[in-house]
Amino acid sequence: MKRPVTRIAAVTFVLVALVTLGVVAVSGLRHRGGADQAAPGLVTPTAGAQAAGAARTGTASRISGRASRDQPTFPLDTSLHSTTDPRSIWVVVNKKHPIHPLDYRPDIAIVRGYQVATAAAGGLNDLLNAGDRAGLGLKIESAFRSYDYQVSVHGSLVASEGQAAADRISARPGYSEHQTGLAVDLITPGRPGCDFEACFGRTAAGRWLSANVWRYGFLVRYTVADQAVTGYQPEPWHLRYVGTALSTAMHTANVATLEQVFGIPGGDYPH
Ligand code: DAL
Ligand code: ZN
Repeated sequence: MKRPVTRIAAVTFVLVALVTLGVVAVSGLRHRGGADQAAPGLVTPTAGAQAAGAARTGTASRISGRASRDQPTFPLDTSLHSTTDPRSIWVVVNKKHPIHPLDYRPDIAIVRGYQVATAAAGGLNDLLNAGDRAGLGLKIESAFRSYDYQVSVHGSLVASEGQAAADRISARPGYSEHQTGLAVDLITPGRPGCDFEACFGRTAAGRWLSANVWRYGFLVRYTVADQAVTGYQPEPWHLRYVGTALSTAMHTANVATLEQVFGIPGGDYPH
């Protein structure tokens, strides 16, 4: 009488194993699915945090976490550039990480009449030329902004909208990516009513930028899905230069924010 029981147990074991493998495979596919927003599980948390610590202290460390089916390793060494030095194309500036020094000014190049960090000029030229070829006629509306200029930009919004509303759409002085010269705001002549409005993301220009800026080393920095991480309302017009190595890795791994790549806290101001 023992044999049938043993056979049933063996068949049951094989079935359970097959079902488990199927669940793991489906879970892995979901992480790499077609959604164009971040899948936080893609960055191995422990490895990301190690790399973040290394990058912020300037020590060399590779993401060394071994890829598993549901936690693939981020496909780039995230310690290659500093995330704290404002001259670095990977600097992370958010509501928890102001620019040091506060009066920082980048080396400037001029693109279509606007000041940008020299490091971002080539990629921005290529992006705008590609936009022209696509018939979009994109224009720069804002690029490098000094600390003093951000004082007036943010101050007038606080005066008209109040502190809380202003903080959702505008960085306090010393906290704006525009001060690094690596960020630009673009507008489109196709739908002027959508400049700096949520509907910009649904214009031909907004859709093209969302799909293509990574090819030129840029990110759409403030996405709909990542407001809790970035601390800002969506800005489909605000692009941030990080170089093609990182923009391509983020596109490939389907990770949308710098905070997730480097394991750096974002969200609201600490006070
Ligand atoms: N609008 C973005 C958050 C800035 O002020 O830098
Ligand atoms: Zn901007």
